[in-house]
Amino acid sequence: MNATPGITQTAAPDRLGRLLRDLRISVTDRCNFRCPYCMPAEVYGERYQFLPKPEILTFEEIERLARIFARLGARKIRITGGEPLVRAKLPLLIERLSRIEDIQDLTLTTNGFLLAKMAQDLKDAGLHRVTVSLDSLDPETFSRMAGRPYGPERVLEGIEAAERAGLRPIKINCVVQRGLNEDGLVDLARRFKGAGRVVRFIEFMDVGNRNGWNLNKVVTAAEIVDRVGSVFPLEPAEPNYQGEVATRYRYLDGSGEIGVIASVSAPFCGDCTRGRLSTDGRFVTCLFAAGGKDLKTPMRSGAADGELRQIISQIWAGRADRYSEERADNTDFEGNVANPRRKIEMFRIGG
Ligand code: GTP
Ligand code: 5AD
Ligand code: SF4
Ligand code: SF4
Repeated sequence: MNATPGITQTAAPDRLGRLLRDLRISVTDRCNFRCPYCMPAEVYGERYQFLPKPEILTFEEIERLARIFARLGARKIRITGGEPLVRAKLPLLIERLSRIEDIQDLTLTTNGFLLAKMAQDLKDAGLHRVTVSLDSLDPETFSRMAGRPYGPERVLEGIEAAERAGLRPIKINCVVQRGLNEDGLVDLARRFKGAGRVVRFIEFMDVGNRNGWNLNKVVTAAEIVDRVGSVFPLEPAEPNYQGEVATRYRYLDGSGEIGVIASVSAPFCGDCTRGRLSTDGRFVTCLFAAGGKDLKTPMRSGAADGELRQIISQIWAGRADRYSEERADNTDFEGNVANPRRKIEMFRIGG
């Protein structure tokens, strides 16, 4: 509904008829982990140059853009990184975003390492819920997959603290890689079963340019469901909302559910309503895009809200991204993607 005649309230659908509904905001390109599938330590070492401070959007700038996105139709905001909890004073940003009326779901994806000490502050600032990444409960596998000499204890403490603070429902994201953590999936399911937490198993994706992806390292959603379901029988469940990334399965014994995110074996681009804002203020229309539209420069040069709204709507209207579906069309049986293209690194836009 248009409150003011002549002023467009929402962005027009993109070229594939998809509305702009979700905004994922990356608040830092830094991370305290070095997961080889995202930021391999040999590439992102001591000398790697992360974004200098002046290039990073301030909280004021993020809030301003978030309000513009909300005006254009965004109803959900997810804070990402890198690792969002390494951004100084993050609760102050949450407080600002939680005051945006149209935002019905304000959440955050974290590796959980700093969560125990921040959970209550985040809740007090107005965060609704959190998603915590946890690839394995086995200390050695955890350490390999986090690229750091730690076990999972601190992350587990973070999950408990988030629960105590009421950041519910808590979702646990596990990226599954052939030969690495596939044997631990049932343990993860068992650990979180029946306690109102939802484990979501994610197919290993070819994000960025440096994570050594090929199809042989992907454990498909069907196989994941088989593995977990053979120990704890499962049945399919309806999506919570149209375009939900995870496909849900319910435990037959009534003790909750799991999700699988099948972006390789069953891409879900057709319903993709997600826009992404990078740490340095670019509007990115696909997780696998080569880059994004710079919003920071016009914003810092004095563009009015209406002008920024115009830029964003135009980009969205021209959007035709459907990378995961195209990958499925272009991947041969050996798992080689024909004409692989240069993509933005995942830690710059937060998955
Ligand atoms: P809910 O709001 O809890 O339903 O979660 P979500 O679907 O927004 O989940 P989350 O941000 O935790 O996403 C889980 C994972 O799915 C991400 O970390 C990515 O690995 C993958 N993912 C999310 N969005 C996209 C997307 O647009 N395309 C692809 N290919 N993968 C995505
Ligand atoms: N494939 C699938 N998921 C990934 N993530 C990071 N890199 C990949 C990848 N290559 C996940 C993280 C986290 C979220 C931000 O994205 O584990 O849950
Ligand atoms: Fe950090 Fe998350 Fe990337 Fe791992 S996946 S390196 S925790 S940003
Ligand atoms: Fe959306 Fe791009 Fe992911 Fe497809 S690959 S679901 S278009 S972000």
